[in-house]
Amino acid sequence: MTLRDRIADRTCRYGVIGMGYVGLPLMLRFAQSGVRVTGFEVDDAKVESIQAGRSYIPDVDDGELAREVEAGRIDATLDMSRLADMDVISICVPTPLSKSRDPDLSYVESALRSVESALRPGQLIVLESTTYPGMTEEMLLPRLATTGLRVGSDFWLAFSPERVDPANPRFGVRNTPKVVGGVDEASTEMAAAFYRMGIEHVHPVSSASAAEMVKLLENTFRSVNIGLVNEVALMCDRLGLDASEVIRAAATKPFGFMRFEPGPGIGGHCIPLDPIYLSWKLRHLDYRARFVELAQDVNTAMPQYVAERVASALNERARSVKGSRILVVGVAYKPDVDDTRESPALEVIRLLVERGAEVSFADPHVETISAGGALLERTELSQNSLAAADCVVVTTHHSDIDWEAVGLYAHLIVDTRGAVPKESVTGTLLTLSGPAYDGAKSVAPLVMEAAR
Ligand SMILES: NC(=O)c1ccc[n+]([C@@H]2O[C@H](COP(=O)([O-])OP(=O)(O)OC[C@H]3O[C@@H](n4cnc5c(N)ncnc54)[C@H](O)[C@@H]3O)[C@@H](O)[C@H]2O)c1
Repeated sequence: MTLRDRIADRTCRYGVIGMGYVGLPLMLRFAQSGVRVTGFEVDDAKVESIQAGRSYIPDVDDGELAREVEAGRIDATLDMSRLADMDVISICVPTPLSKSRDPDLSYVESALRSVESALRPGQLIVLESTTYPGMTEEMLLPRLATTGLRVGSDFWLAFSPERVDPANPRFGVRNTPKVVGGVDEASTEMAAAFYRMGIEHVHPVSSASAAEMVKLLENTFRSVNIGLVNEVALMCDRLGLDASEVIRAAATKPFGFMRFEPGPGIGGHCIPLDPIYLSWKLRHLDYRARFVELAQDVNTAMPQYVAERVASALNERARSVKGSRILVVGVAYKPDVDDTRESPALEVIRLLVERGAEVSFADPHVETISAGGALLERTELSQNSLAAADCVVVTTHHSDIDWEAVGLYAHLIVDTRGAVPKESVTGTLLTLSGPAYDGAKSVAPLVMEAAR
């Protein structure tokens, strides 16, 4: 039976290397579409958790996962030799940056070694980890070809970028279009046929490198536009304008404008890192990716700007940062997730700790963080903790935080996300730009009394 036939009747075995934010939702989707899926991990806690039907990824529901495990459509293993039993293998391991901020390909390298020793005729290999344009063809293909098997006839090789958007209630693996590009036409066709089993819309492109570039365009687009709007906030501040008012008004234009919001910087595993994969590759081709670098400059300077804003707000109250109690609200890199990787809140905290502030944090999704060389346990967000802080800094606008209470009980707020409704503010509110809003002047004395 050929791989084509196995895809057509859904008897193909699917192996996913790396059961993280990307790999686990992918496993669940294909299991739910009737395919037997095995997850390959190096982390035994994750393997145990999956075998017990317990999810550790917020977007993957325990009940749905347990159903697939019980039905025998999902299992997990540390044993990489079992890759030889798989017909299709997706590589979903991390692609971080090294200390020198160059691509760290060690995880892909290690996954590739496992695939290489298990490769047999009839397998389709797909890299899903984000990487620079050319990696599938330049690094994976020559290595897999050393087995003596021929690509396009004995085995197939493609790149397909992962677009998962954690905590997005509208778009999941099934209804997010999937781009695929093979190292040859046969590989593109095989990969497209496979993904059509579990994903509604598959968009083939002419090469693996084009597919790699698609992902980098998407994330560079976000990084550049966030950089632009962050710079708008800085410019508005110089002009004495409130950037959020300006952006809200610009967004009423029904065409030709796409709304982005300023904030304390960029975070997560993708937006701050992926564009660097692109500029790194282009540096080797004697080309400077100017937009990428400029956006990085603006975005990575935002935590410093926030720390300065906190310092000058305290200064207005004749207080120094040193010794001030600062409560940072929301430390995940975006709303409604528990992921703090590259979160700008951690850098804001580090800068404030460095200046001698006593920093605590509150976040319903995160229990502990390591920032500024210290391990911090979360503080409960309450009337007491808000009122006890000399300054409350809002860095992530989770939807399950009572923002009105923040406005009501905090004396001084620096809100980098526009989360706190002005009407609720009884103290002083600063956003990323524009003059401070003095709640005491606008709120009825009775409300003030009730708040204190
Ligand atoms: N998280 C996202 O929102 C997102 C979105 C799009 C693309 N991506 C990309 O997808 C890739 C994976 O990201 P993630 O967020 O799922 O990472 P993750 O850290 O959540 O998961 C990766 C998993 O791979 C495992 N792993 C590492 N080396 C391994 C090996 N040699 N063999 C088997 N397992 C191994 C780790 O233990 C971990 O569980 C990255 O390239 C990332 O840039 C992530």
